[in-house]
Amino acid sequence: MDSNSNNSSYLDRFLTLKCCGDVLNAVAPINKGEKEISEAMGMIKAIKPHVMAHKMEYTLVDLCAGNALTSILAVHLLPIKRAIAINIKPHNRHHDMVTRFKYITADINRPNILDIIQKEVNFNNKYLTDMREAEKVIIVSTHPCKELANRIIGIFNCLPNADYLFLMPCCVGKIGNEYKFLLNNEDLRKKIGMYNIWSLDLAHRINGILKIDKHITSPCNAVISTKKQKNLIKNQGFEWTKTFSEFNST
Ligand SMILES: C[S@@+](CC[C@H](N)C(=O)[O-])C[C@H]1O[C@@H](n2cnc3c(N)ncnc32)[C@H](O)[C@@H]1O
Repeated sequence: MDSNSNNSSYLDRFLTLKCCGDVLNAVAPINKGEKEISEAMGMIKAIKPHVMAHKMEYTLVDLCAGNALTSILAVHLLPIKRAIAINIKPHNRHHDMVTRFKYITADINRPNILDIIQKEVNFNNKYLTDMREAEKVIIVSTHPCKELANRIIGIFNCLPNADYLFLMPCCVGKIGNEYKFLLNNEDLRKKIGMYNIWSLDLAHRINGILKIDKHITSPCNAVISTKKQKNLIKNQGFEWTKTFSEFNST
């Protein structure tokens, strides 16, 4: 099989990459290797065209990063400035082997999570007073569980310098009113499946595009992507310091 063809598995394609060994050294051990690699490769495929149009303009922020496979693969494969991985629990890996990468232990439900992200993304720049000068951000999250997906959408909406969101949902959370009609129709619910209904609901919330990537060897294989429509942003209840000088003093 030609491992570069679109029919080859993500694992085959990963194994042909020059960076394959470096990535594995930095993130190992991986619990379910083929599955996790296929998820990260699926995310890279979705992000790549957007980054290629804006080479070296973006910092990638990987929320609920786990071992940070997605963001470490991104640093190796995509023309991004840096990647920052955030997870509630530390992961004892060789992350220090990766340049242009930082792993932060933080709970994304913390009220000051936006400030934590901004400080990291903008190198704690005390002289930055205008959000338009802030580093541009792509938010990515591979398999955030249940309501964490909603929280990530909130973070994306409220972080003014976040332009893109790529989200692969995991376990099903609370379905919103717009899609309740699918839950109430047993036939449709069975045909579409709870995971796809949840993914549709999340995509709808961010005016996003939903794609099912069958090369991802997990039943949770929906990739939702969106570009920020800045005129639609609402305050979603974050404790958000209004200026950089304010967040620098926190
Ligand atoms: C299903 S795992 C996905 C990990 C990784 N992105 C992947 O694809 O393998 C979900 C991750 O979210 C992390 N997590 C759970 N609650 C969190 C929170 N409140 N803030 C940040 N990370 C959280 C967990 O520790 C876990 O690593």
